Amino acid sequence: MGRKVAVRTGIIAGLLAVAVPLGIAAEISQEATAKYILATVKAFRTVYVKQIIDQAKKSGVKPNENWTKDDHAIMLPAQFVKAAGAELKDFELGLIGLTPIYKSNLPKTQAEADALKKMQADPELKVLTFADGNQFKGLAADFAIVQSCADCHNAHPDSPRKNFKQGDLMGAIVVRFSK
Ligand code: HEC
Repeated sequence: MGRKVAVRTGIIAGLLAVAVPLGIAAEISQEATAKYILATVKAFRTVYVKQIIDQAKKSGVKPNENWTKDDHAIMLPAQFVKAAGAELKDFELGLIGLTPIYKSNLPKTQAEADALKKMQADPELKVLTFADGNQFKGLAADFAIVQSCADCHNAHPDSPRKNFKQGDLMGAIVVRFSK
């Protein structure tokens, strides 16, 4: 009896010795994956803002939320990120905020809301990654880097928050994929 228990304990300990490091390795690679995706999305958005929008402005074409109805308008950077997300089938990409213009941009879970609050409290926290239910998630802080971020959100009729200032955290780019 005692030996059986000892053998069983031995087997379990052996399995754990292999499974735990494997589990940690899986966690690390999911963290790296989330970070690479977020960095890529940010890079594309920066190119859109600094190069495409800037170039388009020279010929009188400006970003506008209702760009589909205006031949001299192109999508907002937030719409660009969301449109790219809509093209993806294997994982989710989006933008979230604690006081978003549209409720569809609210955090999807308490863990996402908590992560946003943590980022709001500590501006040094640029990226957060974590497991949440059956998904792994990454958030990249999105700050009002220029006054126009704050101005447009404050002026938007659907925005519940009207006191954004330059430098405030406005939300985050979010990536979600299966664990
Ligand atoms: C001209 C107006 C305008 C400007 C400028 C603007 N935004 Fe937005 N932003 C919007 C609109 C409209 C949405 C909602 C888009 C949607 O979900 O379809 C949005 C969505 C967002 C979201 C998702 C959460 C939410 O509030 O809905 C974040 C985060 C965000 N913007 C950050 C920024 C940052 C950071 C900047 C500046 C670099 C910025 N925005 C500049 C209009 C603007």
